[in-house]
Amino acid sequence: MSIAKASLLLLLAVIGSSAEPSVEECQGLAKRLPSKDLHEIYGEWVLVWSVSDHDKGHGLLANLTSSHVKFQLLTDNKTIEYTEKNAFSNFCTAYFINLTVPSDDAEHHTLKCHSIRVEKDGVVQEYNDTGEVDLYESCSDCLLMTYKTSEYKFLLSYKKEGSHRDVEQHKATHDDHKKLAECLGFPHDKPYTYDGVSDFCHKKSAPEANPEQS
Ligand SMILES: *[C@@H]1O[C@H](CO)[C@@H](O)[C@H](O)[C@H]1NC(C)=O
Ligand SMILES: *[C@@H]1O[C@H](CO)[C@@H](O)[C@H](O)[C@H]1NC(C)=O
Ligand SMILES: *[C@@H]1O[C@H](CO)[C@@H](O)[C@H](O)[C@H]1NC(C)=O
Ligand SMILES: *[C@@H]1O[C@H](CO)[C@@H](O)[C@H](O)[C@H]1NC(C)=O
Repeated sequence: MSIAKASLLLLLAVIGSSAEPSVEECQGLAKRLPSKDLHEIYGEWVLVWSVSDHDKGHGLLANLTSSHVKFQLLTDNKTIEYTEKNAFSNFCTAYFINLTVPSDDAEHHTLKCHSIRVEKDGVVQEYNDTGEVDLYESCSDCLLMTYKTSEYKFLLSYKKEGSHRDVEQHKATHDDHKKLAECLGFPHDKPYTYDGVSDFCHKKSAPEANPEQS
């Protein structure tokens, strides 16, 4: 085989194995959610895929069995209540966070968590970290965002509660999620994936299977 041919094959092998997303691909994948569409986040969501950029985040994701999130606009129309309930094998943590609805008309916003209350199994924990949420465009029953603390961050992909149990469908999106992770500078070798059945802290994953649960 000629050297030229060998190096061409080598080049193709490299492109084939670690195809890094191009700038154009990243622009298509990592589109910030316009602030005018903020209402799309209201509702209840189940985390189906997530990665972090730090050991603390990896440890958390490694032990997580389910994460349920609710975004709700309060009646003042200025505050979004952001409630996250994380189930681990033998305890639950809940985050109660208030976000301010942006009042200026910038095209998109980073939402700052201006108050965070954390409870572990119902007991209030000391918590003094900051939080910032960036939202990205995604499919109609999906929520895609990053959550940044002062030290590390998460890339989080949610499905609307109700369409959260179709694990095969989730799998079909993993390649896109990995590409998005690369675009946003996240390693993706230790992802969290929802198993489709684990219950949430406060309710069953499949209420119809347990009629006594409301
Ligand atoms: C996750 O679980 C492992 C093994 O049980 C433990 O060593 C580690 O501290 C846990 N990490 C977190 C963040 O809870
Ligand atoms: C909030 O928005 C709704 C719908 O636009 C409106 O009916 C309501 O009066 C608003 N409430 C306040 C406190 O501004
Ligand atoms: C969020 O704001 C609401 C309404 O002002 C308030 O009742 C609630 O305690 C706040 N939550 C946190 C975690 O500060
Ligand atoms: C938050 O708490 C940690 C540990 O208790 C401490 O090291 C850090 O300085 C605190 N940060 C702030 C902003 O108070």
